[in-house]
Amino acid sequence: MGKLLKVLSLVLVSLTFVFGTGIDADAKKKKKKIELTEHENAMFDKWEVKPKKRAKAVKDMRKKPKFVGAVKCNGSCHDAYYQAWTKSPHGGTFDLLKPGVRKEAKERVKLDPEKDYTTTPLCLRCHTTGYGQRGGFKPAGSKNKKGKDKSSKIDPEEPNKEQVGCEMCHSVAGGSQLRAVMKSSKGNFTKAETEAYGQRWDYSNVCTRCHTHKNTPFKPEVHDKYKFNFEERKLKVHKIADYWNEDNADQKLEKKDERAKQVGQTEKTPLVIEDFKVNDKGKLKFKKGTKPYNSKKKTFNYK
Ligand code: HEC
Ligand code: HEC
Ligand code: HEC
Repeated sequence: MGKLLKVLSLVLVSLTFVFGTGIDADAKKKKKKIELTEHENAMFDKWEVKPKKRAKAVKDMRKKPKFVGAVKCNGSCHDAYYQAWTKSPHGGTFDLLKPGVRKEAKERVKLDPEKDYTTTPLCLRCHTTGYGQRGGFKPAGSKNKKGKDKSSKIDPEEPNKEQVGCEMCHSVAGGSQLRAVMKSSKGNFTKAETEAYGQRWDYSNVCTRCHTHKNTPFKPEVHDKYKFNFEERKLKVHKIADYWNEDNADQKLEKKDERAKQVGQTEKTPLVIEDFKVNDKGKLKFKKGTKPYNSKKKTFNYK
């Protein structure tokens, strides 16, 4: 009798083990299953995204925005833009913070030409990508709570977050979400569609995050060359003409001209420009109400 009981309980235990874990796994699967909204499905229908691929795309689109870096915009999508950018003024902004570089310009505004400014928060705000924000550039010496090195890797062969990258002009708070939209839609998106996920089209406005901003040492009052004429300067941002080749020819933007006829919300009502300072603890702080994206409410702040 005792033996039978033992066998029975063993069977019972193994049964609950087998079924028990089965039920657990099912419950987990259910929990993870993402329900798409009507709006999301309508968008994916338009872009002809296969139902199987929708959940994965929507996961990135729903997460809070973060900076991903210029290299991620290159990949198989914007090679010519990336290559041109690395040679453009914005692809080399980090290097200006190094000692001995642009001595005369620094002396003119009473900066120390021999000082290393590559970890100075004030300078990093305008000379790198997303400094002080989610996913943004982390200078040498950055550590997490456990003391582990968290500084961004810098590869001189492949400029990335350490420079003023794509996301500083094209995104509100980082490009992670709008990148998912671009990939899903294969470029067939409207301005409104990417704006909802944090792309901005208020180009002439966005430059003033840095140029002529009250916190830049290089103001028009200091020298005429710092005057900012958008139409003139715009032409120097993307000199892509020389960077198309056999390998990236298929990346030409088929919908670009069509999109150019649309007027985005950010063009009608440009976004606010950040006002910021560096506090006593050396932390970059944005003044209340001057952040273009409110991450708590998930809303955009227009001027
Ligand atoms: C508010 C944004 C902002 C901040 C803060 C800022 N810069 Fe800049 N910096 C710019 C812009 C914009 C330019 C380009 C100006 C132009 O060419 O019209 C620039 C240009 C420069 C140049 C080149 C100037 C020249 O004439 O060759 C140097 C060097 C430089 N910055 C160093 C620094 C250092 C060091 C700091 C920190 C002490 C700093 N910047 C802080 C926005 C900023
Ligand atoms: C300094 C700001 C700035 C940076 C940095 C920048 N862009 Fe741009 N980008 C612009 C402006 C301004 C335009 C519009 C140009 C025009 O109208 O002639 C533009 C246009 C584009 C377009 C065409 C969009 C369309 O559909 O009309 C693409 C694609 C693009 N940029 C990709 C990139 C990529 C990729 C990077 C990074 C490797 C990058 N940009 C970095 C300012 C910037
Ligand atoms: C995040 C900060 C930032 C933003 C935003 C930004 N710039 Fe700049 N820009 C810089 C810095 C820093 C330099 C200095 C580069 C240098 O002197 O080598 C610069 C330099 C330039 C230059 C080269 C100046 C010259 O004649 O040598 C042009 C052109 C320019 N920016 C155009 C633009 C335009 C157009 C926009 C908006 C679409 C824009 N920038 C947005 C930081 C920024």
